[in-house]
Amino acid sequence: MNLDLNLLHPYPFEKLAALKAAVTQPADLKDIMLSIGEPKHEPPAFVLETLVKNLNKLSNYPTTKGIPELREAIATWATTRFKLHVGSFTADKHALPVNGTREALFAFAQATIDRTKPDPIIVSPNPFYQIYEGAALLSGAEPHFLNCTPANNFIPDFDSVSEDVWQRTQLLFVCSPGNPTGAVMSSAQLKKLISLADKYDFIIASDECYSELYFDEKNPPAGLLQACAELGRDDFSRCVVFHSLSKRSNLPGLRSGFVAGDAKILEKFLLYRTYHGCAMPVPTQLASVAAWQDETHVIENRKAYNEKFDAVLTILDGVLDVKKPDASFYLWPKTPIKGELFAQKLFETQKVTVLPGSYLAREADGINPGEDYVRLALVAPLAECIDAAQRIKSFVQSL
Ligand SMILES: Cc1ncc(COP(=O)(O)O)c(C=O)c1O
Repeated sequence: MNLDLNLLHPYPFEKLAALKAAVTQPADLKDIMLSIGEPKHEPPAFVLETLVKNLNKLSNYPTTKGIPELREAIATWATTRFKLHVGSFTADKHALPVNGTREALFAFAQATIDRTKPDPIIVSPNPFYQIYEGAALLSGAEPHFLNCTPANNFIPDFDSVSEDVWQRTQLLFVCSPGNPTGAVMSSAQLKKLISLADKYDFIIASDECYSELYFDEKNPPAGLLQACAELGRDDFSRCVVFHSLSKRSNLPGLRSGFVAGDAKILEKFLLYRTYHGCAMPVPTQLASVAAWQDETHVIENRKAYNEKFDAVLTILDGVLDVKKPDASFYLWPKTPIKGELFAQKLFETQKVTVLPGSYLAREADGINPGEDYVRLALVAPLAECIDAAQRIKSFVQSL
């Protein structure tokens, strides 16, 4: 077997299951899960209808590159959303469909890391989406974590990275809006990363799967391709973004997203994917076209999250050290006791499941930046989120 498999950490939800199994839960309360970032709002009916209507196309092998209609829909969406120069983002060269960003983020590291160069590094935020770490370990690179704390507004401090680390860096993962903190990187911060990528010759993989879950309709989060466009960098050189219908359109089970950006990198990534065998089924592609072409359901989705944030934060005001994130559907409160104990006791007394922040982070520079936090995913319906917030309030007041 590949010995690098032994380096992989258990997934956070395995640790959470063990934490919960160690205590008895109150029998009389309904379980409320705020732990998993799985959207629970209804998926758009027209997307499901399109999927069903095209099931007969399962009789054809799909191509890895995807049907032109899907790549066109992605090109139109990305050009409008990120204010790209018209014509700079072409359906043919700048986009590839992927079966959700998770597989793509993992595969991307396998395709990009050059093992012939000494001691490759993949830099990532900390806390982080665990796939970044697994992708690094299995690609033969060393993960290097940059702590996200209140002191840096939960954005990695790229100035703190040593010359030696940058020299060895081949790939940088960024996540904006971030999971779990919801922090959004500004266009200026993204531009600074682009200049670092040029200076040290690395690729930026920007995970933007939460980019459509924001609060102010007039102020959507910037993206890496947008930063490129503002710089006049219309070839998106060294820059690749990852987008998904999972959160935007409440379709986590559809397994549909895209990667986009630097055409030279995508050409090689397509070659890798052809061998990996991860072509998206044609009915899924056609359903995805319908989803990318509609914004009405996404606006409704944002409204529903906004309502939940307002209700929950009103209840938690003065109870926990927590604020509305820049974007995403997560709250990242600082806990009055260690996050892991907080999560366990909250489950034991109130049957509300939240995820200990330490499970989403590693120790770096002597601290685990998630240790004093828990992650709350406001995915449950409004009434359940309100119920959960009230139970969290009672729990904190009982400490
Ligand atoms: C930061 C981040 N990236 C990527 C993903 C993967 O999403 P999907 O594969 O559904 O696109 C998730 C899912 O929770 C996530 O939180």
